[in-house]
Amino acid sequence: EKDKGLIRDSWESLGKNKVPHGIVMFTRLFELDPALLTLFNYSTNCGVAPECLSSPEFLEHVTKVMLVIDAAVSHLDDLHSLEDFLLNLGKKHQTVGVKTQSFTLVGESLLYMLQSSLGPAYTTPLRQAWLNLYSIVVSAMTRGWAK
Ligand code: HEM
Repeated sequence: EKDKGLIRDSWESLGKNKVPHGIVMFTRLFELDPALLTLFNYSTNCGVAPECLSSPEFLEHVTKVMLVIDAAVSHLDDLHSLEDFLLNLGKKHQTVGVKTQSFTLVGESLLYMLQSSLGPAYTTPLRQAWLNLYSIVVSAMTRGWAK
């Protein structure tokens, strides 16, 4: 319950500016693993240069990711209601060539974004609360990589 409070309070401010925060997160992700850029169509001849990262596809995906996080935050009391949605979202990512291992870097990028936006409000308990939520989301998505 304390975790939920930490998450809701921190998302209250971040959620108002989803796209800029999502850009920070995914810019970090592509720094950690530039090869992930090649999974998007806009990657042709494009690197981690800012003009690539502001392409419509990139911004659309960033927006989609932030809306999923937003949904998770609003369903903290009944996360299982998102199970089917997240499983199918995982399937979709398997189809486009994402590997489940990449979700570790996505998690690091999420924490990086939280730290840079929240500053001193980024505390150990807050970090842990977000990690717990993120791991629930990722394990549901990972179930989409059916054997
Ligand atoms: C769709 C890549 C992580 C949410 C896609 C697509 C690609 C992609 C290539 C299809 C094109 C598009 O719809 O833009 C990646 C990569 C990731 C990643 C490389 C990190 C390794 C995530 C995460 C979330 C997410 C963490 C949310 C928690 C979505 C959504 C869609 C999507 C909602 C649209 C699915 C649909 O069309 O039904 N992603 N993604 N993605 N992604 Fe990601």
